[in-house]
Amino acid sequence: MDRPVRVLFVCLGNICRSPLAEGAFRKLLRERGLEDRFQVDSAGTGAWHAGEPMDPRARKVLEQEGAYFPHVARQMTREDALLYDHILVMDQENLREVLRRFPEARGKAQLLMDYLGGGEVGDPYYGDFQDCLEAYWTVEAACRAFLDHLERDGSPGTASPGGA
Ligand code: 4NP
Repeated sequence: MDRPVRVLFVCLGNICRSPLAEGAFRKLLRERGLEDRFQVDSAGTGAWHAGEPMDPRARKVLEQEGAYFPHVARQMTREDALLYDHILVMDQENLREVLRRFPEARGKAQLLMDYLGGGEVGDPYYGDFQDCLEAYWTVEAACRAFLDHLERDGSPGTASPGGA
């Protein structure tokens, strides 16, 4: 059997945006019966929140959406840059930081929003619950577009038997 497709979501703190994206993506995989075909995680470029649970607002959004999963924040490592096939970053600043620190991520790191016509996922950390909910809707739509893309292109682990 093909090895799993490895997907890492990255933001600054790994307590709001990237856990929202990870939760949304995990939920999509469950809905499509693809959980076994993927290895999914998230990380932050910063270490300030490492070891902490996700932001309570993000947790509430994910619970409300049926997408909650246990999460402990962590900082992205060079091993991540080597291991993951797709490193989907929330904004330009963090994408620059990923590529500056880990040249190994070249060709694998990109903005998540590239799959939804471009742009960035704004930081809801200094906003309120509604900002967090809107960030979820944004990352959920982008994750759906990303997964559609993988399934269409028959990426390893998602190709249908006999498919291209
Ligand atoms: P995230 O949000 O990158 O979406 O997890 C933030 C979390 C923490 C901080 C900034 C953004 N912070 O400055 O501590």
